[in-house]
Amino acid sequence: MAQLFKPNANSLAKTSLLAAAAAPLVLGFALAGYSRSAYNTKVDVSINQPVPFSHQHHAMELGIECRYCHTSVEKSSFAGIPGTETCMSCHSQIWTNSPLLKPVRDSYESGTPIVWNKVNKLPEFVYFDHSIHISRGVQCNTCHGAVQSMQITAKGNSFQMAWCLECHREPERFLYEDKSAPELTPRQKVFELYWKIQEDKKLTPREISLAAGMNSAEPFAHDIADGKALIEKYGVKVKQLADCSVCHR
Ligand code: HEC
Ligand code: HEC
Ligand code: HEC
Ligand code: HEC
Ligand code: HEC
Repeated sequence: MAQLFKPNANSLAKTSLLAAAAAPLVLGFALAGYSRSAYNTKVDVSINQPVPFSHQHHAMELGIECRYCHTSVEKSSFAGIPGTETCMSCHSQIWTNSPLLKPVRDSYESGTPIVWNKVNKLPEFVYFDHSIHISRGVQCNTCHGAVQSMQITAKGNSFQMAWCLECHREPERFLYEDKSAPELTPRQKVFELYWKIQEDKKLTPREISLAAGMNSAEPFAHDIADGKALIEKYGVKVKQLADCSVCHR
């Protein structure tokens, strides 16, 4: 099964093989072709939003932690988008006259949530869970790109199946953990990178590429050795990780 998705397999062969191999899944997949729209595959293109919210400003310059706004990212499958009250915890006091914040004030007064346009969206038939990735130390930037320097949020990666599988097949190439802070849990370490950037700490080559939102940089041999050690440490079941049923249930 694994060979089906080698990049050189042409899509016709892929499709017909799949029809045989994954018959029960086929209907969902057929529908999915229609539900996938262009914004879903465009990487690095900023998405228009009702309020020009800047991660660079809030997460990096002001130093607000990701979890302050994306409260469920380490506990549940969804990261969650903050409600208007979270914005108003500051903006009822600061920048209160900004015209850019008018939709936030209106939402607060009327009780109607702000409708943010989705940047990342998987088709319905794909299962994804934030918490397991965070608990294995997969950094936000590995998947979402250099969020801490985005003025307007854009998609950091394609989120196509081949992209997910690149890591699921060889997680040792991507798993990384900051060893300079052994007292932190893997979850906490996911947020260390941003703190280090804010504090202008010295970054390792691996961290520099993570900060830039690149997960494709060829890892050094010692990074791969570290990745293997993490797989061992967390008991990651590499053999099953590329099984269809992991992401298609
Ligand atoms: C002050 C609140 C706040 C903080 C702090 C914050 N975010 Fe966000 N984030 C938002 C809001 C609001 C949106 C929706 C608007 C947008 O897409 O820009 C969002 C959207 C996102 C999205 C895209 C969601 C989608 O539609 O797919 C990602 C990814 C993301 N944030 C990651 C992060 C990361 C990583 C951090 C920490 C470095 C972080 N955020 C810190 C408020 C915040
Ligand atoms: C912890 C406090 C804090 C929170 C929470 C917060 N902001 Fe801000 N925000 C600020 C500060 C401080 C500034 C601007 C100061 C500056 O430009 O130096 C700002 C600036 C802005 C601006 C630019 C305003 C302008 O006129 O340039 C927008 C838009 C904005 N925030 C939207 C949001 C939204 C939307 C949320 C909720 C998702 C949010 N902020 C949550 C502190 C906060
Ligand atoms: C392994 C890849 C991966 C990692 C690591 C990851 N995300 Fe995501 N994120 C995704 C995918 C895929 C989606 C789209 C999910 C969907 O459509 O069901 C998403 C969606 C989101 C959204 C939109 C709202 C939601 O819950 O769907 C936010 C916000 C977000 N991520 C924030 C974060 C933050 C903050 C971190 C780090 C603490 C993080 N993500 C780590 C892959 C990842
Ligand atoms: C950088 C590496 C990496 C990337 C990229 C990645 N994953 Fe994972 N994923 C993992 C690891 C590590 C685990 C944990 C496996 C374990 O502990 O056995 C995991 C587990 C999962 C699980 C199992 C959850 C559970 O509850 O059993 C699902 C589903 C999943 N990933 C979906 C996805 C999807 C969909 C994508 C692409 C949008 C993706 N992953 C991208 C590394 C990654
Ligand atoms: C790590 C998660 C993951 C695993 C494992 C996985 N898929 Fe997928 N699959 C995805 C994602 C994500 C998409 C959606 C891609 C998109 O939107 O472009 C997808 C889409 C598909 C599609 C729709 C056509 C396409 O290419 O977009 C088919 C068919 C499919 N998967 C079959 C399979 C089969 C069969 C297996 C087992 C050999 C499998 N998948 C294993 C994540 C996964």
